Amino acid sequence: MDSVTRLGVVGCGLMGSGIAEVAARQGLDVRVAEATPDALETGRRRITASFDRGVQRGKLSEVERDQALARLSFTHDLADLADRQFVIEAVAENRGIKTDVIQGLDKALEDPAAILATNTSSIPIVDLAVATERPGKVIGMHFFNPVPVQGLVELIPAITTSQETVQRTRDLAARLGKQPIQAPDRSGFVVNALLVPYLLSAVRMVESGGARPEDIDQGMELGCAHPMGPLRLLDLIGLETAQAVAESMYEEFKEPLYAPPALLRRMVAAGHLGRKSGRGFYIYD
Ligand code: CAA
Repeated sequence: MDSVTRLGVVGCGLMGSGIAEVAARQGLDVRVAEATPDALETGRRRITASFDRGVQRGKLSEVERDQALARLSFTHDLADLADRQFVIEAVAENRGIKTDVIQGLDKALEDPAAILATNTSSIPIVDLAVATERPGKVIGMHFFNPVPVQGLVELIPAITTSQETVQRTRDLAARLGKQPIQAPDRSGFVVNALLVPYLLSAVRMVESGGARPEDIDQGMELGCAHPMGPLRLLDLIGLETAQAVAESMYEEFKEPLYAPPALLRRMVAAGHLGRKSGRGFYIYD
């Protein structure tokens, strides 16, 4: 089986743009699909700005940036991904939207051996796999934010996923410079199963008036050497994404530990989504 050279990425938000950026830097031909012209333009600008920051920080030359940008193409139409050997969907963490995208890709891809990977944080992979005509070729490939920095990718085979799909995905992860770990197809996989209860506990601590966000964050940054405390991290992840992940985990296990606290819901309802909206537990410029 040929190694992957033509990659598709669906969704150009925080995660999709990071995946596209990393793949283009590693020499892959990357085509990015987004639903609306505005979202596509925002994603394209985010990728370009990230490459420019890389040049300013001396991580890549102007020539390397231009070569990487030339490997990227953009479209509004999933049909334009027809020739891709491997597609990673990174659309909003919503079961209905992800199912529609996976089914659209299943129809669009010409090669029946092409692999469909989902960057879901919490939706069971098997549910997405059985929505397609190629359940053996569907796998979870969960990246971490910011994608260009975080070294991990969780590989989550569904019970339908073939061994060959796992191996090809492992090879692609290595090509992208990421260290794969294999995770079980249960909501939250490995990392979020541990991380989400911790993040929600920090929200509950604020909610109950127990401690201020800056004290909680400093506690974990200085006391435990975490690069950022839980509330700063929630602002980075996006509060609506964290809520969606917690809801999926709660739906699966019915553990109160995973239930999104009222404060998180209220902040999401108010549009206080974290860095992306300029306000979350902190205010951003
Ligand atoms: N793109 C590329 N590079 C970036 C970047 C980005 N978006 N953000 C930061 N960097 C790079 C910087 O260029 C810098 O590189 P050098 O040291 O080589 O110059 C390095 O990362 C450190 O950045 P900063 O100095 O600006 O800031 P920092 O030291 O505070 O680090 C951070 C920022 C990398 C975000 C760090 O705080 C961190 O790792 N935080 C934890 C992030 C984390 O836990 N992510 C997982 C979230 S969970 C998830 O994603 C899964 C889910 O399903 C919810």
